[in-house]
Amino acid sequence: MSDHVYLSLEALTLAYGDTVAVDGLDLSIAEGELITLLGPSGCGKTTTMRAVAGLLKPSSGRIMLDGRDVTRLGANKRQVGLVFQSYALFPHLSVYENVAFGLKLKGERGRDLEGHVMEGLKTVGLTQFASRKPAELSGGQQQRVSLARSMVMHPKVLLLDEPLSNLDARLRLEMRTELQRVQRETGVTMIFVTHDQGEALALADRIVLMKGGAVEQIGTPEDLYNRPKSAFVADFVGFENVFAVEDGKLRTADGAVPVSGTVPAGAAALAWRPAMVALGSGPHHGSVRGVSFAGGTREYLLDSSLGPIKAEADAALPVHDLGTTLAFDLPAERAAPLQRYA
Ligand SMILES: Nc1ncnc2c1ncn2[C@@H]1O[C@H](COP(=O)(O)OP(=O)(O)O)[C@@H](O)[C@H]1O
Ligand SMILES: [Mg+2]
Repeated sequence: MSDHVYLSLEALTLAYGDTVAVDGLDLSIAEGELITLLGPSGCGKTTTMRAVAGLLKPSSGRIMLDGRDVTRLGANKRQVGLVFQSYALFPHLSVYENVAFGLKLKGERGRDLEGHVMEGLKTVGLTQFASRKPAELSGGQQQRVSLARSMVMHPKVLLLDEPLSNLDARLRLEMRTELQRVQRETGVTMIFVTHDQGEALALADRIVLMKGGAVEQIGTPEDLYNRPKSAFVADFVGFENVFAVEDGKLRTADGAVPVSGTVPAGAAALAWRPAMVALGSGPHHGSVRGVSFAGGTREYLLDSSLGPIKAEADAALPVHDLGTTLAFDLPAERAAPLQRYA
């Protein structure tokens, strides 16, 4: 992976009629980087990918790829590969023919063609399925064919738009590992779109978290997981208890509440994961409204004067029944300080 900027989106804006789907998005990606684009449904991920692929025209802004302004360049001239959640394979063609399709359009024939197709199938571990039809493959295998079909074109950037959404949980995990391996082995620059934070954290060199058509935070998985900047990011990565800070106190449903410990200077809000809530003692009280067993732990939803609180306890401990009142604390030293609440 090199440091220089390979793909950049500069103040990219796209609209469908009156709906601004992507709103002044700035993003720089290095060659060989694996970026995940994460965000809730409707935040503009697919629109961004379609713009990079050349399938949608930006209203304004610029896309630079490998030193060239490609903003007005046709999709077939950009060398950008796109894999999406439906495999879009030709059902009447064999796996081999599906992978060969784009190469043939480029004029490849004979041994070159065969060599490249087989190399592509080898990359995704499907050489022995070359003569099968897509219908004779599992969902995961079909997705590998789409991946091979894109990879043989040697794209400058490979875009994957929620490619694992149609697969069951186990297969998703397997394909995720597979994708990571292919990316590492080939060094292809990859943007992987997902709304699943676990997938984004597991795969990415850097995560781009989007909100309302713009970038909310960019960083390594560790950055986002441990140092969210805003309540939106914190909530997305599992800090389920977030409070704005005003004059050193927490702003709650019940007014300003003092915090145990010292609020870090400059924190606009504090966020606690359920596991960071001290359960069993403390100045606050909550009534158990929900309990769910999560393997090693039990998650409690408490109704408290601060508002709803999500806390977690070791599952080996005796269960607290619904309606029980529990003491708890939100210690400042365990919280993640946020730069922004909104
Ligand atoms: N073809 C379209 N026509 C009108 N609005 C659209 C179209 N496609 C997407 N949108 C709107 O643009 C916004 C972003 O959509 P999209 O890029 O598909 O988000 P995501 O992929 O993050 O779910 C949403 O508000 C969506 O409703
Ligand atoms: Mg989408």
